[in-house]
Amino acid sequence: MSLKGRSLIAPLDFSVAEMEGLFEIAEKIMTDPTRYADVCKGQLLATLFYEPSTRTRFSFEAAMLRLGGQIIGFSEPNSSAVSKGESIADTIRTIECYADIAVMRHPKEGAATVAAANASFPVINAGDGGHHHPTQTLTDLLTIRLQNGHLDNFTVGMCGDLKFGRTVHSLISALLRYSGIRFILISPEELKIPAYVSEELKGADYIETQNLTEVMPQLDVLYMTRVQRERFFNEEDYVKLKDRYILDNAKLAGAKENLMILHPLPRVNEIAAEVDKDPRAMYFKQAKNGMYIRMALIMALLGAKDD
Ligand code: NCD
Repeated sequence: MSLKGRSLIAPLDFSVAEMEGLFEIAEKIMTDPTRYADVCKGQLLATLFYEPSTRTRFSFEAAMLRLGGQIIGFSEPNSSAVSKGESIADTIRTIECYADIAVMRHPKEGAATVAAANASFPVINAGDGGHHHPTQTLTDLLTIRLQNGHLDNFTVGMCGDLKFGRTVHSLISALLRYSGIRFILISPEELKIPAYVSEELKGADYIETQNLTEVMPQLDVLYMTRVQRERFFNEEDYVKLKDRYILDNAKLAGAKENLMILHPLPRVNEIAAEVDKDPRAMYFKQAKNGMYIRMALIMALLGAKDD
């Protein structure tokens, strides 16, 4: 596997075999984390977060620290020269003088692409607007793989904000490379997948519906998402749609016994707290897996040796 020096901007940047290599490293780290405690010693990760984050930023920072590396960064762009009007290109060229690898989250689609094009060190896209979130996809795939043992032949329901939800867009792209995946896209009319995603799905096995309860018995994986308030043009539209889907125990009545309930988090109202006790609820495990796959990713991009 030669991911050394590469960037990760979109979900298809790495081949299926390269992603497989990352899952294998992540699983090795999970079984023996102390073995990896020094592999990135002397290396510095910069986190540039122009948008709020809990899991993505903390898991990247925890990942680097657990590999023996160090971290710098901002989680509030107004505390950096960004607030003075500095361009992404200039910011990344500057960060490159100090750090070995950077992670960027930005509200504008394409921001990470611009950063990577202006950098000669690895840049990781931690979310660019409503577009992509490839490391969440790695997290989601690792979680499914750990549970199922494979990444093909299952039915996945994606429910909620399929229009603005970048985690959904990236996960669909990534899953389309595996065989036997059936997609059931559950959303209100107003929050259906954007045209470029329907284009990718052409020829794939998928249906669109508004009715979660009706399709529930068919699902092997249910991927719930939050309605992305920050991407709406007006609050009224958001309020109208925000509670359209609330997963609770009653709705799970017809579900398979081995259903996997995933959510990239944060959750607002779309999964009732009572569901957390259900053994099929895997969203906090999923958040934890996010740290391990990010450890594997940082190691690979920095060319750190695991022997
Ligand atoms: C997601 C994101 O930022 O797109 N969060 C995350 O990284 N786990 C999902 C969301 O914000 O709804």
